[in-house]
Amino acid sequence: MSLIDDARAVRENAYVPYSKFKVGAAIRTVGGTVYKGCNVENVAYPEGTCAEAGAIAAMIAGGDIAIAEVAVIADSPEPVSPCGGCRQKLAEFAKGEVKVTLATMDGGRFETTVGDLLPGAFDQDYMSRV
Ligand code: THU
Repeated sequence: MSLIDDARAVRENAYVPYSKFKVGAAIRTVGGTVYKGCNVENVAYPEGTCAEAGAIAAMIAGGDIAIAEVAVIADSPEPVSPCGGCRQKLAEFAKGEVKVTLATMDGGRFETTVGDLLPGAFDQDYMSRV
């Protein structure tokens, strides 16, 4: 099973009564464990969470911290583009060279990296004086 298959499977569980836009995300850690997440919306719209955030939360709850690969899938005309907040969240736990595959349900694929998704990231180095 590929990481995209994992993302596609969890996407089915997305709770999206407002946008109807289901997203699935899967993370493989450096140790090989796969964590999955889907978007979870809320009637108070800003309280919704993205698929990527769900997968990261599952990873941290599972005791892992280092991302080796990411896949995200949605039923969109072009491969789904992670929001700015999720780019920052991924950068917290992934090196810049980590591969991110963005996918559509009908086979569209765009391969990028965490570093290309968030050039010039605000990272832990900025905290070195505190
Ligand atoms: N969404 C994600 O979960 N991940 C992305 O990469 C893009 C957008 C969600 C948020 C919201 O539930 C819905 O897609 C529409 O914005």
